[in-house]
Formats: sequence, structure tokens, C-alpha cells
Amino acid sequence: MSGAGEKSRILALLRQELLDLRQEGLDYLGPRPLRPPREQAQPERRATGGKPASAVRAAGSGGWRPRVPPLEMPPLEGDAQVKGQRLEEIRHDLGDCRRCELCERRQTIVFGEGNPDAPVVFVGEGPGADEDRSGRPFVGRAGELLSKMIASVGWRREDVYICNIVKCRPPGNRDPKLEEVAMCQPFLERQIEAIAPLAIVALGKPAISTLMGRPIPITKLRGQWQEWRGYPVMPTFHPAYLLRNYTREARQAVWDDLKAARARVEEAGR
Ligand code: URA
Repeated sequence: MSGAGEKSRILALLRQELLDLRQEGLDYLGPRPLRPPREQAQPERRATGGKPASAVRAAGSGGWRPRVPPLEMPPLEGDAQVKGQRLEEIRHDLGDCRRCELCERRQTIVFGEGNPDAPVVFVGEGPGADEDRSGRPFVGRAGELLSKMIASVGWRREDVYICNIVKCRPPGNRDPKLEEVAMCQPFLERQIEAIAPLAIVALGKPAISTLMGRPIPITKLRGQWQEWRGYPVMPTFHPAYLLRNYTREARQAVWDDLKAARARVEEAGR
């Protein structure tokens, strides 16, 4: 293995290790003394009658661990390793981003996660409160539904890549402003180009409008293949919209769209 390949593998392992520690309750790594994760986890267990806190609630004081389980990523090899390394470089370039005002109130940059060699990239809008705390995309209620949507067409969450048009939480979950999207867009574009997926699923109006470069109501394009720089894009409803409009029609529509994305990927032999 090349030196660069080994470095990228070690960075990926280190990153996963830190994510695991955060899952176990470690909430700070720095000059103040660390409390061992177990000391934090136990009172939480007592407060939840012995069940893991995540089984009871994911958000709220001290109980922020995501309900969406951590990704079990296999060691990267071949294309995945090269793509993983590119993603690490993009994350490195993003740094401790202060390019727009979203940096002022965010807790964590939510870069994106998943298989660097994913056949499909899901693009959402921006982190919510759970994502802001955990540093992972789509881990709150909308994320749980997204995981189910992904599973409904036979993918696993770790097979795909999930990211957002903005990497920092808009305060109060307001829509991201155009200038905020503009600052983040080069990173989103580089993420997609690094992964070079066979299909992109755009979740909701902000995602499809960003990719198409003009405001478009999702109802107008949903279910119809679009193209971004030669990549097929399937616009569909955002899971948060589905949670608000949990009708048979809306669920069927999203399922149809994801089945179309899955079929497209399978046609290409993946
Ligand atoms: N909604 C989004 O658009 N992205 C997330 O990461 C979470 C909720």
C-alpha cells in the first residue's frame, strides 16, 4: 500500500474511533480532563430503567446520542480508498469553516458520511439539532425515516453516501440563505465529483434547486430524472416533509422515486 493510501486508511480508522467515542458519551476532547465514557453512560442508563438512552430518547439534556446506529464501515480498498482520500482532502479544505454566518451558532460541522464509493448520493438540506450535536447527517427523526426509505429499496445506510447542501445548522432550522448555500456549494460539488455516483437523490426543494441552479418547486420535478454535470438526479420529497404529510400517496411517491434510483444503479451493474 502507498504511503498516502496508508495515511488515508489510518485517518478513516481514527475518524471512526472518534465517532464511536462520541457515541459512547465522550463529548469533549481537549485541555480539560476527559471523563471516561462509561462514567457518563451509567447515570443515563439508570435514568432510563437500564435501557440504553438511545432506545428511550435521542435528544434532550445529556441524551443526544443518535437513534441512527453508527456506520460500520469496512476497511477501504481500491476505488473506495482513493475516493475516501479525496473526501478527506475536501473535509480538510473545509477546515473549521467560517465562510458564512452559520458558523456562529453551529456546534459541529456536518460534512457527510457513508461509502466513499457509493453508487448513490443522497443530498439533503442542512443539519438539524440532532445532526448539529452529533456531527452526522440525518440522525434525527427525518434521518430515521431516511434510513427506512433507503432500506425499503434494499440498500443499507452504509452502502450510500449522505450529505447536505449546507454543512452547518441554520438557526431554528430556517431555510439556508442563498449566500450560505453559495459558500458551501463548492464542497458539495467536490464531494459528489469525488464519489462519482451512478445516481444522486435530491431530497426536497433546496437540494434540487441548488443542483439545478434555479428555484424549483419539488412537486414540479419529483419523480423525473434530471441531470447535474452528467450525473442522473432523482428529485424526491424530503423525509421531513413526509413526516409532516404522512399520506399513502406521498410515501408511495418517494418509494417509486427510490426504486427508480435503485433500478438505474442496477442497470449500471452495481
Ligand atoms: N434534514 C436535512 O436536510 N439534513 C439533515 O442532515 C437532517 C435533517
